[in-house]
Amino acid sequence: MKALVYHSPNNIALEDKPKPIIEKATDAIVRITITTICGTDLHILKGDVPSIPDGRTLGHEGVGIIDDVGSDVVSFHKGDKVLISLITSCGSCNFCKKGIFSHCLNGGWQLGNKIDGTQAEYVRIPFAENGLYLLPSNADDEAVLMLSCILPTGLECGAMKGQVKPGDIVAIVGAGPVGLATLLAVKLYSPSEIIMIDLDDNRLEVALSFGATQVVNSSNGKESETVMKLTKSAGVDVAIEAVGIPATFDICQAIIATGGRIANIGVHGKSVNLLLEKLWVSNITLTTQLVDASTTPVLLKMVESGQIDAKKLVSHRFKLSEIIKAYYTFENASKEKALKVVIKNEYANI
Ligand SMILES: NC(=O)c1ccc[n+]([C@@H]2O[C@H](COP(=O)([O-])OP(=O)(O)OC[C@H]3O[C@@H](n4cnc5c(N)ncnc54)[C@H](O)[C@@H]3O)[C@@H](O)[C@H]2O)c1
Ligand SMILES: [Zn+2]
Ligand SMILES: [Zn+2]
Repeated sequence: MKALVYHSPNNIALEDKPKPIIEKATDAIVRITITTICGTDLHILKGDVPSIPDGRTLGHEGVGIIDDVGSDVVSFHKGDKVLISLITSCGSCNFCKKGIFSHCLNGGWQLGNKIDGTQAEYVRIPFAENGLYLLPSNADDEAVLMLSCILPTGLECGAMKGQVKPGDIVAIVGAGPVGLATLLAVKLYSPSEIIMIDLDDNRLEVALSFGATQVVNSSNGKESETVMKLTKSAGVDVAIEAVGIPATFDICQAIIATGGRIANIGVHGKSVNLLLEKLWVSNITLTTQLVDASTTPVLLKMVESGQIDAKKLVSHRFKLSEIIKAYYTFENASKEKALKVVIKNEYANI
């Protein structure tokens, strides 16, 4: 089968690999219908996630059709349409019992990281009973694909960790797919203002169309001043970091109000400068989280009912044979006006 294989930083290729097979009774094999690329895959390409070995198939997002199941998998059958969650969880270890599925001792963020991922014709899903969601055959695949990673991330690591409340002023730094998904999630809590900060005017325009009340382009380095002016020098109640670099964490520290919450979502490859000498007095809460994907069932209902219009996060469509071009497009998002790029497995004869 074809698979997008990582070799070393900035060195990936679409290659032939053996089709995965059932290894444990709790596994399922899913034939991918569509997959996509995450900002985290771009961090992997930059070398920010050193745990990824040479030869790993990337990708942790996907919708597909069950091809085979192990003997312990009872809820899914060959031919079922399923959503793949990025998180693998055994359901019985200490972390799973506490609901911290992303740190499952027998799973966690495995796909496209510790085991081969979804940017391929087929993928093996361990603990399939927990990591897959049955979809109605008429489900909108592209809308649902946004639930593999970015919508649970925006809701759990952004809106919920940041404890967004009605009337809050919220700033989201980074208007990539994760920042925009966070915006959709934050809106569920009725904040009074959502200020979106990015370098990319196209993405900021999209943010306005998604319901941001203010957008700030940070390329002139005056974004913090602008946000302080917009908030009459009070700062924001919640600052959500959705980029993963020191500069954007600095913005969050500069604009947070007394009593505010900084919720970090970004995957960081470098240390940041924590300004504790300034923040200690201000009753700030700082949170970090690897997404648990525990909100996926709720989000599925909201996408199905139309309460969240997830499909508008998709900007481009490619075939699996064009995945290198899809990576180029997503990496050059500003030039290409790209949000989420959907990659269809044209090999699977669906
Ligand atoms: N915590 C988690 O579990 C989790 C899950 C998924 C993704 N992530 C992380 O979320 C982050 C965002 O993902 P994405 O898919 O949206 O990535 P992306 O690369 O598409 O988007 C990042 C955005 O940040 C903007 N940006 C870059 N530098 C900036 C600056 N100095 N000021 C303002 N904006 C700047 C870019 O223009 C871009 O729009 C990544 O770090 C990703 O790894 C974390
Ligand atoms: Zn992701
Ligand atoms: Zn577990």
